[in-house]
Amino acid sequence: MGYELLEILKNRRSIRKFKEEKVAKEVIEQVLKAGLLAPSSKNKKPVQFIVVEDKDTLLKLKECKSKGADAFNTAPCAIVVIADNQLSDVWIEDASIATILLQTAAENLGLGSVWIQMRNRQNNIGNSEDEVRKVLNIPENYGVLSIVAIGYKDEIKEPYNENSLDFSKIHYDKY
Ligand SMILES: Cc1cc2nc3c(=O)[nH]c(=O)nc-3n(C[C@H](O)[C@H](O)[C@H](O)COP(=O)(O)O)c2cc1C
Repeated sequence: MGYELLEILKNRRSIRKFKEEKVAKEVIEQVLKAGLLAPSSKNKKPVQFIVVEDKDTLLKLKECKSKGADAFNTAPCAIVVIADNQLSDVWIEDASIATILLQTAAENLGLGSVWIQMRNRQNNIGNSEDEVRKVLNIPENYGVLSIVAIGYKDEIKEPYNENSLDFSKIHYDKY
């Protein structure tokens, strides 16, 4: 791995507090390109993205989950990652890869982001996927994996340090 990508990965931390400043459309498009470049099983490309910038809608998305969605209080933008679960039996993996690529691209562009999980999560009414589908008019056959909240960072988080990486988790030849 080249030096630069490792630096981006060390710097990427979950950011849940954002400045008010909007993110320019061109910058969001750069982030989306990374999502569209994600590999997918059998190259079926089941993943789609919904960009949300409307404040009321962002707050509605927050309500789709009973906790862990405070980032929507300040995020000026969110990218909802959905995938056609009839097109691919491994849509979760495909959507996960796209999600982390969005986050990596965001970091590379000087933006902060956080992965807000929707699949397998609930609010007090029902499951978060159904709630998001209702808010955004998403067809039933699309699974809602995650929403990436994105914006300029308004909190400082220490980058990861290579010395703290746990190499005991790596096994060679046998467990
Ligand atoms: C699959 C997955 C689901 C996550 N869900 C949420 C979430 O719903 N809300 C949230 O604030 N952070 C969420 N996160 C962010 C994690 O809490 C975070 O990545 C972890 O604590 C490590 O911190 P770091 O991202 O700063 O390295 C999620 C991360 C992953 C990979």
